[in-house]
Amino acid sequence: MKVLVVGTGGRDHAIAWKFSQSPRVRRVYVAHGNAGIARTAECVNLRTIEEMADFAEKEKIDLTFVGPEKPLSAGIADLFLSRGLNIIGPNQKASRLESSKCDAKVMMRDLGIPVPEFENFSDPEKARDYIRSVGYPVVVKADGLAAGKGSLVCDSVEQAEEAVRQIMEERVFGDAGQRVDIEKRLYGRELSFFCFTDGYTIVPMVAAQDYKRARENDEGKNTGGMGSYSPHPWLNDPLVKTIMSRVAEPLIRGVREKYSILYRGILYLGLMLVEEGDDVTPYVLEINIRLGDPEAQVILPRLKTDLVDISEAILAGDLKRISPEWDPAYRLCLIATSGMTKGKKGWYKGYPDRYKIGLPIEGVENIDPDCLVFHSGTELDASGRLVTTGGRVLCVVSSGATLGEAREKALLEMEKIAFEGIYYRKDIGLQ
Ligand code: GLY
Repeated sequence: MKVLVVGTGGRDHAIAWKFSQSPRVRRVYVAHGNAGIARTAECVNLRTIEEMADFAEKEKIDLTFVGPEKPLSAGIADLFLSRGLNIIGPNQKASRLESSKCDAKVMMRDLGIPVPEFENFSDPEKARDYIRSVGYPVVVKADGLAAGKGSLVCDSVEQAEEAVRQIMEERVFGDAGQRVDIEKRLYGRELSFFCFTDGYTIVPMVAAQDYKRARENDEGKNTGGMGSYSPHPWLNDPLVKTIMSRVAEPLIRGVREKYSILYRGILYLGLMLVEEGDDVTPYVLEINIRLGDPEAQVILPRLKTDLVDISEAILAGDLKRISPEWDPAYRLCLIATSGMTKGKKGWYKGYPDRYKIGLPIEGVENIDPDCLVFHSGTELDASGRLVTTGGRVLCVVSSGATLGEAREKALLEMEKIAFEGIYYRKDIGLQ
């Protein structure tokens, strides 16, 4: 069969790689991909969801799988389904769960799902009054999509007021800042929890630990993710049961019954586990409608079941027949980013602040074939050299019987990669 993967980043490379492993897949296309993805699949330069649907129709694509949230929020699933094309990913109405932090929180509160105390505001003055009134630290979130950077965790009233100013008045995240969700800051253990769902049956995946902060010891700004590993040390069967019964099941059933949303595809719950008496309550900090990046880079290599079989079961509304098998060995992902470099007019601070692009990348060919290399921001320049095009450039995914073994391997292999200003966190997987 022919598969089309929509996306351009490391997660999307991992999805394309996973499909390329399937004996049932003859050809994998990626729209629009990058230089690394082009080594795994055939990249096609399709930019709009209409172009993608036209391509899927013309090329008789059997299955399309969507990596990022933007095309889903733009309605790619609705468009494909209206044209009789098979696609994995929630529809536009379901995508509101990620594309509006404010609406998602209201829905979850209505459905009795644990969420931090919160209020939504479209007036910055009222938002500031609220911050001064509550008497506890808050997190200020831009309502719309902000590439994973729209949540500002605040230690003080002053910081929270500044967050409102940046998001709503300076509009550092553009129109995503028309409204804000201000929620009580919770303290506990963060966990990214992923499921497949056909809108009725929910099948949990293994979990991954993501590292969002740019610098070691979880310091520095929030990024899209600097590394990850799986299995997650905290996720055991009782906790899976708690998350399923208190969050995933009421959410999927609730949006179907109360909001007429048939949620099909991937569900990603960003949770804060808070100990309350003898219990652990899984509070939902955010919902994403897709696989995580860089969580997919460690979860998909552990998935032994064919992703085509899972996708077909989702499309047929028959997911109950699937029990995915997982490799128990650890996977660890280190992301190489565009770090500090000197420009003509001074220094570039590096991702997630400004960074230089177009820098030649050396050493990818020398990586041990036991490891995987997924690309996020690379292209071939006019002379065919591999160069950087983004803040997150590429990642190395290692495996090991223990987390320590996987970590050492990834660090050793990453030393073979070189580009000006390369930066990666050396504490990924260090507990
Ligand atoms: N790793 C965070 C995200 O994918 O949003």
